[in-house]
Amino acid sequence: MAIPVNGFSKLTKQEKIAWLAKNHFINQEEGIDILQQYVNSDAKLQSLHDEFIENTISNFYLPLGIAPNFLINDKYHTIPMVIEESSVVAAAGKAAKYWQQRGGFKAEILGTEKIGQVHFMFYGNTENLNRFFAEVKPTLLQATESITANMRKRGGGITNIELRDKSNELANYFQLHCTFETLDAMGANFINSCLETIAKTFKSEAQTCDMLSAEEKDIEIVMSILSNYVPNCVVKAEVSCPVDALNEDKNLSPQEFADKFVRAVAIANAEPHRAVTHNKGIMNGIDAVVLATGNDFRAIEAGAHAYAAKSGSYKSLTHAKVEDGIFKFWIEIPLALGTVGGLTSLHPLVKLSLEILNRPSAKELMQIIAVAGLAQNFAAVRSLITDGIQKGHMKMHLMNILNQLGATAEEKAYFIDYYKNKTITHSDVINQFNALKAKNV
Ligand code: MEV
Repeated sequence: MAIPVNGFSKLTKQEKIAWLAKNHFINQEEGIDILQQYVNSDAKLQSLHDEFIENTISNFYLPLGIAPNFLINDKYHTIPMVIEESSVVAAAGKAAKYWQQRGGFKAEILGTEKIGQVHFMFYGNTENLNRFFAEVKPTLLQATESITANMRKRGGGITNIELRDKSNELANYFQLHCTFETLDAMGANFINSCLETIAKTFKSEAQTCDMLSAEEKDIEIVMSILSNYVPNCVVKAEVSCPVDALNEDKNLSPQEFADKFVRAVAIANAEPHRAVTHNKGIMNGIDAVVLATGNDFRAIEAGAHAYAAKSGSYKSLTHAKVEDGIFKFWIEIPLALGTVGGLTSLHPLVKLSLEILNRPSAKELMQIIAVAGLAQNFAAVRSLITDGIQKGHMKMHLMNILNQLGATAEEKAYFIDYYKNKTITHSDVINQFNALKAKNV
């Protein structure tokens, strides 16, 4: 059982590890060795990673994989993916190849608007608040000028501040709903700095405003924070081809494949349980590239799922149809991403991932990542409506099972061959492995 500790953050790294080992490790020496194995021998690189977060005791590796052959808007891309789940990178590569032969992916930006809000309570006459806001709005913008100067020079900045009456949802609750253009930056720090300045100015201007009563002057700022729900920072990616070109599946005619595919997507639109798994598959591709490029996958996840529920019920993020003999499959997804700032210039592998992607702008990265999500979904739905997901998945998983069993390279080669035309199950692999071991003893 965990025990409480005071002043943990003040301990040195070695002291933290010693405390952890003493209180949590079954075998102290072994636990410390494992932590040590993952520490980088380059002290400078290690200290860079140590400083990303707090109370760092080691590193936690995730594999970086590569999915080549993505033809997006007639240009080839090689996509770096960071993910622990087997099959995802292989599926991306397969989908890329499939659509490379059918005209590739098309992607376009539908909007890049970021959002931040000052949440406040106002007790009084809403008309007076409206009049005060109209008067103070230029002052709010002026107050942020030093923060926004650089961004404005490059064509970005605060695009609007709106007063929103939310008192129907919660008594006395109002917002300053602010919109931003943050160009190639994700912009979280920029937005939050602007919001805090706007909030402070709003409150202090209210205190000296003649048109507000004493009670009305006392605006209570509850919080100022960006929103990860960005329904106007959206990218669309699509593939399309004549139905006849969907001719790679042995057991389905192209028309049957197209119809079944459209039906599978319709099911994800109609039924939240399926929609969540369907969208999870999309996020397999999206998160992997978001992570590789040093972006915030929690923000992307939260925003994507909110968007999937924008109609009031949770739906598929992708859509499919057949019209006039053309199969069309597309995704629309909000992606607030950055290719400058944050980890992008700090983490050497993030820098390299961006280099692999030819140093994209945030808009280009939005397109690439939306395509990665669409490709992943195509691969998953294609498997689901044809062979089923387990065939390919278990093939990939075979390696994980064999690694867990400590199989040698020879044994791995033997089992890859053994399972070529057999169904792989976890228990069967273990049984066959033990049988092979017994035979060789
Ligand atoms: C597994 O990580 C993702 C899938 O479940 C997605 C889907 O069902 O569409 C295969």
